[in-house]
Amino acid sequence: MHAISDTIKEDHRELEACYEKIDEKAIWQNQFAWELAHHLCAEELFIHPVFEKRLHNGKEIEHKDRGEHQTKLKKFQDTRSSNPSFIPAIHDLMKVLGPHIEEENFALPALEQMLSPQESDSMSHSFARTKILVPSRSHPSAPNNLPLIHQPR
Ligand SMILES: [Fe+2]
Repeated sequence: MHAISDTIKEDHRELEACYEKIDEKAIWQNQFAWELAHHLCAEELFIHPVFEKRLHNGKEIEHKDRGEHQTKLKKFQDTRSSNPSFIPAIHDLMKVLGPHIEEENFALPALEQMLSPQESDSMSHSFARTKILVPSRSHPSAPNNLPLIHQPR
């Protein structure tokens, strides 16, 4: 026998326990992972095809670090904020993202040169809209193209 009030109270204790385990680092970890997963996916969908179609070496420019980004992102997502490896994991991830971010100094100007202002505007809207489509977690074996599948922890 298990009284309903006990069941409800157990639920309340679970919620309190979850609440106590939430910290700011975990919240920002989720936010960071979501932003990065969205960003990589949106680039894959909208930016890479333009490079591939219009640049002779477009494919190698856009695909060379993708696997490493996904692997490091997964490792970061799987590391609890209380784990001593948490800060090293995010530093590790940012280290591999550094060259990707620096590409904005030459890849993005090259991209804008390939596009009309209307095309650029249209891609910008499509890019922003992918936020509702992308998975909340990344995975090294995640597909490179749609359909995107949520990867459970
Ligand atoms: Fe990027």
